[in-house]
Amino acid sequence: MKLRILFLAALVLSLFVCGCGDERKSDEVRQSLTLVTSASFPPYEFLSGQQVVGIDVDIVKAVAAKLKRNVVIIDTKFDSVIGHIVTGKADVAASGITVTEERKKKVLFTIPYSRSAQIILVPRNSPIKNAGDLKKKKRLGCQGGTTAYDYLRNHIITDKNSPLLQQFDNPAVAVEALKIGKLDAVILDEEPARVLAKLNEKSIMPLPEPLTSEEYAIALHKNNRELCGIFNAVIQELKISGELQKIVEHNTLLAKQLKEEKEYTGVTAFFHRLAADFHTNFIADSRWLYIWGGFWKTVQISFFAVILGTLLGFTVAVIRTTHDRTGKMKFLNALCRLYLTVIRGTPCVVQLLIIYFVILKSCDNKVLVACIAFGINSGAYVAEIIRSGIMSIDKGQFEAGDALGLSYWQTMGYVILPQALKNVLPALGNEFIVLIKETSVSGYIALQDLTKAGDIIRSQTYDAFMPLMAVAAIYLGCVMLLTWLLGIFERRLKRNE
Ligand code: ARG
Repeated sequence: MKLRILFLAALVLSLFVCGCGDERKSDEVRQSLTLVTSASFPPYEFLSGQQVVGIDVDIVKAVAAKLKRNVVIIDTKFDSVIGHIVTGKADVAASGITVTEERKKKVLFTIPYSRSAQIILVPRNSPIKNAGDLKKKKRLGCQGGTTAYDYLRNHIITDKNSPLLQQFDNPAVAVEALKIGKLDAVILDEEPARVLAKLNEKSIMPLPEPLTSEEYAIALHKNNRELCGIFNAVIQELKISGELQKIVEHNTLLAKQLKEEKEYTGVTAFFHRLAADFHTNFIADSRWLYIWGGFWKTVQISFFAVILGTLLGFTVAVIRTTHDRTGKMKFLNALCRLYLTVIRGTPCVVQLLIIYFVILKSCDNKVLVACIAFGINSGAYVAEIIRSGIMSIDKGQFEAGDALGLSYWQTMGYVILPQALKNVLPALGNEFIVLIKETSVSGYIALQDLTKAGDIIRSQTYDAFMPLMAVAAIYLGCVMLLTWLLGIFERRLKRNE
């Protein structure tokens, strides 16, 4: 009875708490205008420090100021910007969105506030001189879900499975790929293309001939006619007063200054670059915290997986050898064989995914899931290693144990296993080393381990070198430490001989 009352009280309390939350939230929503954008598109939207700024942001802020509301920004991938409006997750989408017939079916557009075009970016020494050259089996890049992609798909590379057309989440990453020779050209909206070309002046340039002619407008939900009217009025006002022009000029300047650096030459330039890269990748925004957190998770996963794997492996090995020696434990032996076949026959990542998405569906603790998955996986390999160790011990020792009056299990525990362990120590160490590195696939279940931490930094800084080197160095350090510890252990065992 008491329990029931307690439960009821808890229920009422939790409903009350939820209710309060909702009310506050809806108040907040009424006071703010939610803008969805994809802040990788200077000068329309880009990051200045932690803040999203740009022409689009300024226009929306002008409207919000009229409405006495503040602006809340959702920064997401461009291909889900329109989706945010359709599903009501945001009030307005301002993201250099080109007005197209297709999009008009889904959202309401304001009057246009800017003209644009798709243009071609190429390396300075490129043989590509115009749109016609793009058709000559060139590797082309663009941002996913954009009109650039539509243009390329409809006019240049019509084969849907062609590897020549590559989509990127972020135009700057596409430009990075162009710079290191992984692409032959990038197709991008004119203004962002010019900003990126300016920031990478020495290596890439825009071609003069535009491929399309487009207009940008702000998108709202189909039912939001009233707000659309207000936006139209404000945009009109900004155009007439010359304020829009000022917004454009201010943001263009800001965007082009973002990365401008002093010129250094020779060795100084090299070290200066290195220091600057180190700073952006690890110090700025406290990004090293990603690495630290990831490292810690990798250590936890590896540690517990090794323990679980060892326990499992020992058990399976003992069962299998006992069955081989004595013919007992038929059922358990069959079970062990099934385990070995399945685990060694399927990829570790697939096992991890199955455990996370199917078997432990309701478990939210990803580290725990990873420990279990990697532990079970490693157990299969450890089992065979230990079994080979047991088999390497002369049969006569069992008989000797017998003669001394030891039981089978006593002989196994006191005589056979200690020797077996010593014999297989190098192979076991090998397995642990593999295991540590294998945990790097944890990112598949969105677990922020060490590798994933590097990926996150890479996606923020567009730099591959520093984050990958750091991650590699840390794994290397861990493995070296483990090897050293195993060496000590091995020497100890030898001394005891
Ligand atoms: N204007 C192009 C389009 O509408 C590209 C826009 C990309 N915008 C962005 N914020 N990344 O498809």
